[in-house]
Amino acid sequence: MNTKIVTINPKRISSEKILYVASLLKKGEVVALPTETVYGLGANALNPKAVKKIFKAKGRPTDNPLIVHIYNMKQLKLIAKDISDDAKKLMRKFWPGPLTLILPKTKKVPDIITAGRETVGVRMPHHRIALALIRNADLPIAAPSANSFGKPSPTISKHVIEDLSGKIAAIIDGGSVKIGIESTIIDMTSKTPVLLRPGGITLEEIQKIIGKISVHESVNHPQKKMKDALAPGMKYKHYSPKAKVILLEKTSLKKALEMYPSAIAISLNKTIKEKKNVKYIKNLNHLAKEIFFYFREADEKNIPIIIVDKIPEKGIGMSILNRVKKAATKII
Ligand code: TXA
Ligand code: MG
Repeated sequence: MNTKIVTINPKRISSEKILYVASLLKKGEVVALPTETVYGLGANALNPKAVKKIFKAKGRPTDNPLIVHIYNMKQLKLIAKDISDDAKKLMRKFWPGPLTLILPKTKKVPDIITAGRETVGVRMPHHRIALALIRNADLPIAAPSANSFGKPSPTISKHVIEDLSGKIAAIIDGGSVKIGIESTIIDMTSKTPVLLRPGGITLEEIQKIIGKISVHESVNHPQKKMKDALAPGMKYKHYSPKAKVILLEKTSLKKALEMYPSAIAISLNKTIKEKKNVKYIKNLNHLAKEIFFYFREADEKNIPIIIVDKIPEKGIGMSILNRVKKAATKII
């Protein structure tokens, strides 16, 4: 398949180009699009044949359900029902934005989206191109991250081209994403909401709005095998570069570099000396934006080992830690 690369400036969106990509979605094709979190691989959520193409292009197991992306509340009513007051509060505060809510689904949502579940993950992305595209297609859009299965999520169109060129109808190049890791996922269908995946919205921000929320065990221990894979994605190894990833919890960076002289390292520590193999990142938001990019870049350069220096568990640090732990072969 010949994959069209469509360059769109998010600050001056070309309606002609958006209409073209929207027409592909209406025809049941799969297209990659930028969102504020990571690039997504979108198709008409109401068309099972179109959705099947997403799984095929990514090489993704079909027991892992997809998030549906919407642009307004009318579309929400089409796909989700019995929405709790807490869910409404979260939507009001964080939509459009990097928050996915698991809600009871309507009959309209095909089984292939939800892997046969009675719930559906929904989010309204905070990205001008994504919103314009969904509005123009006038369809709810199913979209996982636009990487091949097992690879880090893409934060620039070049990553998507590397993974999916030749496998999908079009890729929108809309520049780099703002956040760099995926949305926060909360299951709103149990009595106490459950954080299933930490992401762009922090646990602290959620707690401020709805108070009590429980944290699924896999959030802080993503490497433990889950008996009951609540978010089915949890059971798969994810976000892995080819390089070995070593996360530092107790060991100093200096010591770790002595142990692994061929490694490169990334660190939030102001006092470290930047060197060819050691990169300093000034804060957690920058680290979120850089981490998947850094993993991909290391693979391009055939780096065998990546050391990630200590990350505080607060704020978006919790989300970054979750991703790094998923990729890590060792925590020392
Ligand atoms: O930021 C994001 O969320 C990106 C952008 C493209 O929107 N999308 C994304 O999709 O990260 P994906 O497919 O890579 O991750 C979605 C996760 C999966 O782990 C899946 O298991 C979970 O959401 N999920 C989807 N529907 C679910 C449901 N009904 N119940 C529980 N988990 C669900
Ligand atoms: Mg993904």
